Amino acid sequence: MKVLVVGGGGREHALCWKLKRSPSVSEVVCAPGNPGIAHDARCVAVGAEDIDGLVALAKTEQPGLVVVGPEVPLVAGLANILREEGFAVFGPDKAAANLEGSKSFSKRLMYEAGVPTARFEVHVDLEEAIDTIRSWGAPIVIKASGLAAGKGVIVAQSEKEAIDAVRDMLAGNSFGEAGSQVIIEECLVGEEASCLFIVSGDTVLALDSSQDHKALLDGDQGPNTGGMGAYSPAPCVTNAVADEVLETIARPIIAALKKKGAEFIGTLYAGVMLTDDGPKTLEFNVRFGDPECQPLMSRLKSDLGEVLLAAAEKRLDGIELEWEEGSSLCVVVSSDGYPGSFEKGQVIAGLDAVEAAGTTVFHAGTAEKDGTIVNSGGRVLGVTAVADSVKAAQQTVYHALQKLDWPGGFYRKDIGYRAVARETQKD
Ligand code: AMP
Ligand code: GLY
Repeated sequence: MKVLVVGGGGREHALCWKLKRSPSVSEVVCAPGNPGIAHDARCVAVGAEDIDGLVALAKTEQPGLVVVGPEVPLVAGLANILREEGFAVFGPDKAAANLEGSKSFSKRLMYEAGVPTARFEVHVDLEEAIDTIRSWGAPIVIKASGLAAGKGVIVAQSEKEAIDAVRDMLAGNSFGEAGSQVIIEECLVGEEASCLFIVSGDTVLALDSSQDHKALLDGDQGPNTGGMGAYSPAPCVTNAVADEVLETIARPIIAALKKKGAEFIGTLYAGVMLTDDGPKTLEFNVRFGDPECQPLMSRLKSDLGEVLLAAAEKRLDGIELEWEEGSSLCVVVSSDGYPGSFEKGQVIAGLDAVEAAGTTVFHAGTAEKDGTIVNSGGRVLGVTAVADSVKAAQQTVYHALQKLDWPGGFYRKDIGYRAVARETQKD
């Protein structure tokens, strides 16, 4: 089977890497891909947000399966069009993708479905928003309702910070149209985990757990980013927690979408906070997490092409996933300055040596210039290893990163620290 993957980031590199290793897959084509993906797929220069271009590409390539990586084309309705054209597609239609595309839709649906989540209000009026902030007090969470590449959330430690964030969003300064509606949320306390599910109609198949580090700096300090590193499995997600997330969060939200006429085929990503009152939903995404996908694909033993095709063709029921024992861990190397501004076009060397030290380097924001790899985005590389424990995987990755020759690169030095602490406690 030929598979067309849409996207060109670290997540799509991990998907292409795994699909290339799937017995059911004979060829992987990726639009637009990146220089790292080019080792695992034939890259075609059609942008992931160029809906007409992607439909035309699918008609030319005639893939047996299309896998849509990022949220933007899903929210724009790419999957609807491709399905109408008769393609097998892994990725939800527009109506179901709204679960990620609109946080206000998503929060309201959670309430309707009885899915545990933080108390919230939706506001378009600054004065009313300020009244809520003053009455609830800090800490308090402010979110832009629309898509903001993981950066539209401010966990405000003071009322002033919260009011400034709301003022900025509603004025359209920080997130444009995405911030024209704001969500004000109660601040939840606990450990976070990413619980992902392959969904096809009524069948909801859990992937192994993972945990992402969204904050820029060590110790989970600094601004939120798209994710600075991840590992799998997350020891805080015991079997009992995983069952609870499946039964109280994933299944009810999929059923609630269906009741609204939106059938879900694709990846449901539940970001959950493990609070003293049980798991509560922080957000839903409608695609694999980035960077969670990198450690997950590194540990998946099953034929990914077969699983995703089964989901696309609504015959997922009865399929089980197999995982490598042990743990995997991915450290994201970003351009220094991200999530703010940074200089593009810096030469990145030493990648072969980093891989030779026992890792897989997934490319995200890279480009090729005069035969060398340069940075072209905020999150640039996902250096990933599989080992017997999180600690061993962490050591492999950080040791390998010493071979990276890129002075303008930045990475956290503590990815996986919570899991390593748990492992150490057990020993
Ligand atoms: P989201 O994109 O909604 O997952 O938010 C990004 C990050 O902000 C999450 O991973 C959490 O670290 C944090 N966050 C979001 N909502 C809350 C909340 N209600 N309470 C505490 N932290 C939150
Ligand atoms: N790593 C968080 C996300 O993919 O949204």
